[in-house]
Amino acid sequence: MNQIIPYGKQEITEDDLTAIIKILKSDFLTQGPAIAAFEKAFNEYIGCKYSIAVANGTAALHLCAMALNVKPGDKVIVPPISFAASANCVKYCGGDVVFSDIDLNTLTLDFDKVKLLLKSAAPGTFQGIIPVDFGGHPVQMDLFRALADEYGMWIIEDACHAPGGYFTDVKGEKQMAGNGKYADLAIFSFHPVKHIAAGEGGMITTNDEALYHRLLTLRTHGITRDQSVFKNSIVEVGGDPTKGQYPGWYMEMQELGYNYRLTDFQAALGQSQLKRANAGMEKRLTIAAKYEAAFSNIKGIQTTYLNNPSGEKFRNGHHLYIIQVEDRLGLYNNLRSKNIFAQIHYYPIHLMPYYRALGSKPGDMPVAEKYYAHCISLPMYPSLKAEEQEYVIDNVISYIEK
Ligand SMILES: Cc1ncc(COP(=O)(O)O)c(C=O)c1O
Repeated sequence: MNQIIPYGKQEITEDDLTAIIKILKSDFLTQGPAIAAFEKAFNEYIGCKYSIAVANGTAALHLCAMALNVKPGDKVIVPPISFAASANCVKYCGGDVVFSDIDLNTLTLDFDKVKLLLKSAAPGTFQGIIPVDFGGHPVQMDLFRALADEYGMWIIEDACHAPGGYFTDVKGEKQMAGNGKYADLAIFSFHPVKHIAAGEGGMITTNDEALYHRLLTLRTHGITRDQSVFKNSIVEVGGDPTKGQYPGWYMEMQELGYNYRLTDFQAALGQSQLKRANAGMEKRLTIAAKYEAAFSNIKGIQTTYLNNPSGEKFRNGHHLYIIQVEDRLGLYNNLRSKNIFAQIHYYPIHLMPYYRALGSKPGDMPVAEKYYAHCISLPMYPSLKAEEQEYVIDNVISYIEK
C-alpha cells in the first residue's frame, strides 16, 4: 500500500461541509443556536436529559471535577489504562489520583479490586471514581453506582471511547454509555480519531439538573445571566429598583470558571456527524467481527473482541480494536514498514514521570503493566476499506506466523 493506513481517521462529507459553511455565513460563530441544537441532538442519541458542549474532552473532565467540588486532599479512583486526561482532571483541582488496576478481560477498572480498595480504607477516604469505557467497552455502571452509593462517592464516566456502546443492567435494561442513568456525569471527546469529529470538542452528559446549571456557568467563566440567582443588588449595579429589574447588560460572575466553550461551526460539524453515528457504529462492529474471525484461531494473537454475538446484551463502542501479542515492538515496526500505522493505547498513566514523581512505581498495577507490554491497536474507523483491512490482517498474520 502506498497510502498510510492509520489506526483511526475522521471522515468529512459534503453534508458536513455544508453544515459548517452555513454557520460561517450566519451571525454566530460562537455562542449561537448551533450549540443548543447539537446538545439536544446529543441528548437524543445518548438518551440523557442534559448535554453541555465544551471545548474538548479534557475541559469536560476538568469542569466535571470542578462541579463535583474536587478539592485538595480528595482521593479519586482512576484506572491506569486510559488517556492521561482521565486522571489529570483530579490534579487540576488539587485532588489525589489513586490508581486501581484493570481487569484483563474487559480492560476496564476491575470491580472487585475497587471493592477491596474501598473496604481496606477508612470510611470516607475516597470521594469519587472515574471509570473509563476503555477502547469502547462500556463499564457495568450499575455495579459501580451501588458501590459508590455505599461509600458516598460520585462517579464521572469517561465515555470518550464508547458513544453508541451499551451494557445491560441488572434489571435487564439496555443502558447507553454515558446516558447519565448511573454516573453523576459522563464525558465525550470530539477529537478527530473519535466517533464524532469536530476538530476539537467535548460533551458532558448528565441527568442531574443542578449539576447541569452549574456546568453551564463554569463553561463560561462562572458567569450567569439568570436574574433570579443574582447576588448583587439592583441599585448597586445601576438597575431600576421600582421595576425590580436588573439592567439588560448585567451579568454576574459568581465563581471562578473558564472559557471552555465550543464554537458554533464545530457544533454544526459535530451535529452533522452525529447523523451518521449509527451507520458508523455498524461499520465499526463489522470491522471488529472481521478481525475477530481472522485472528481467533491464530496462535500468538489474543483478541479482545468482547461483543455478545447476538449483540443484545452488550455492545462495545469500538473506538479501538486491540490485540495482544508477544513481540509487540516487532509487530509494530513491521506494520509501520508496510504503511500500517498501528498505535499503542496506552502507556500506563501511573508510570508517566509526572505520576511517578507523586509516588507510583513499576509493579503497582501488574495487570495494566502486563497488558501494556503486549497491546497494539489496529486500524479501526468506519471508512476503512475492505481491501485495506484485509491487507492489515494479512500482514499481522504473516508476521505472527513467520
Ligand atoms: C479516554 C479519554 N479521555 C479523555 C480524553 C481527552 O479528550 P480531548 O482530547 O478531547 O481533550 C481522551 C482523548 O484522547 C480520551 O481518549
